[in-house]
Amino acid sequence: MSRRKKIYEGKAKILYEGPEPGTLVAHFKDDATAFNNKKHATLEGKGVLNNRISEFIMTHLNNIGVPTHFIRRLNMREQLVREVEIVPLEVVVRNVAAGSIAKRFGLEEGEPLPRSIVEFYYKNDALEDPMVSEEHITAFNWATTQDIDDMIALSLRVNDFMSGLFAGAGIRLIDFKLEFGRLYDQNDIPRLVLADEISPDSCRLWDMATNEKMDKDRFRRDLGNVTEAYAEVARRLGIMKESGQASDGPEAVK
Ligand SMILES: Nc1ncnc2c1ncn2[C@@H]1O[C@H](COP(=O)(O)OP(=O)(O)O)[C@@H](O)[C@H]1O
Ligand SMILES: [Mg+2]
Repeated sequence: MSRRKKIYEGKAKILYEGPEPGTLVAHFKDDATAFNNKKHATLEGKGVLNNRISEFIMTHLNNIGVPTHFIRRLNMREQLVREVEIVPLEVVVRNVAAGSIAKRFGLEEGEPLPRSIVEFYYKNDALEDPMVSEEHITAFNWATTQDIDDMIALSLRVNDFMSGLFAGAGIRLIDFKLEFGRLYDQNDIPRLVLADEISPDSCRLWDMATNEKMDKDRFRRDLGNVTEAYAEVARRLGIMKESGQASDGPEAVK
């Protein structure tokens, strides 16, 4: 394990060179960061949970024809993915006002938005991920107009699928962040696929009955029981047993 070449270490994951060319191993750490790294902590077990939850969602997305980087889970903390050229944007889909949109437009947190809203942020920690318009994206060559159309269409499909998936588990999908990457075929033609992770670190998830937060806002806002909430998300999706142990259910074996 330690002989593997480390490609990149981020805030929540480490990327290692994969077993075959064009693959990477994503290792999910227990580190939690917020407010652009100003706040950090170690949350024991978070990496294991996010690895499983991301596997579960990406597998379902692959099955309904949303292309993703996900190949298979390797162990409790690691998954094999296709190496992509990351589009330097964070794509945020919002269904209900919370976080920065509530602040910016003076909306009440929990207020349903008139329709699902897709936003783009430039992925740059040093600049604190500023919000950008399509003009900025095309002018600075981060993505083409076609890429933008594709990212919006894919993000809305992910939103429809995930809203239903979580609703079935008694969870309201408030908003989430996606990252996309380019995969090049034999003729060097790029294709956009969903990359990175989908987990309670990258989504806002509220209990439908109580509005209790079951996501990273528990860490950002010091609400406590962060990993417990993530484990509850996994349990409700049928991924983990009551005890928080990994279940060997059909989704676990891949
Ligand atoms: N399939 C992939 N190929 C290449 N890079 C990826 C892939 N999936 C995710 N990444 C990138 O790897 C990093 C994941 O580590 P993470 O700890 O989340 O980083 P960050 O601190 O940038 O959020 C991110 O920069 C993400 O854009
Ligand atoms: Mg990240």
